[in-house]
Amino acid sequence: MRISSPNSVRISIIALILLLCSATGAQELQKIVLPVPDTQGGMPLMRALALRSTSRSFDAKELPPQVLSDLLWAATGINRPEAGKRTAPTARNLQEIDVYVAMAGGLYLYDPKGHALLPVVAGDIRALTGRQEFVAEAPVNLVFVADYARMGDAADEIKKFYAATDTGFISQNVYLYCASAGLATVVRGSVDREALAKAMGLRPGQAIILAQTVGYPKE
Ligand SMILES: Cc1cc2nc3c(=O)[nH]c(=O)nc-3n(C[C@H](O)[C@H](O)[C@H](O)COP(=O)(O)O)c2cc1C
Repeated sequence: MRISSPNSVRISIIALILLLCSATGAQELQKIVLPVPDTQGGMPLMRALALRSTSRSFDAKELPPQVLSDLLWAATGINRPEAGKRTAPTARNLQEIDVYVAMAGGLYLYDPKGHALLPVVAGDIRALTGRQEFVAEAPVNLVFVADYARMGDAADEIKKFYAATDTGFISQNVYLYCASAGLATVVRGSVDREALAKAMGLRPGQAIILAQTVGYPKE
């Protein structure tokens, strides 16, 4: 007889709960319009660089709307509205990386144009965003997803290379914002991409590159 690991049992239970929620329509997610980001604040850049680090110990406390707003704007918000360009560079300005936000209430897609969170999945999929225990507890897990359909007819190798580098810039923006705001963060490659893509309802041509957990440091 094959005995399932506690982790796979946990993932199956979460998947079942999500399925039941969507089947019964038990929860309805609403769009969240984020407050205007505070683009004048933060600590001096050299100080933030001095403090930048990875942490894997998170308090469960939620991030206030203003902090979520500033975090996402720092990650890949629009900083030059006249050109629609972003805080993170992308190869050929393809802007192919979407930032999904998994929180206790559900999964959202960050919309930089509206500076809003668009509803994607009702239900808590945080535990599926990584293989480490803290992901289920931390208030925010960002999932960086490449949309290869936006990358034209470049070779697959080039698409993957650009998507990986472009994600790195976004992740470093998050690291620096977190250093400045006193938040803990860790970027993560350890993700069951197949299970997560399924829970997120991703289309073919969308690929999970990395995930990044953000929260207040555990005292
Ligand atoms: C591409 C990439 C993938 C990573 N994946 C994980 C991960 O899955 N889990 C984890 O705990 N840390 C992960 N890290 C964090 C690194 O372990 C961390 O950056 C490294 O130990 C250096 O520590 P520092 O960020 O504090 O300088 C990853 C970092 C990068 C750049």
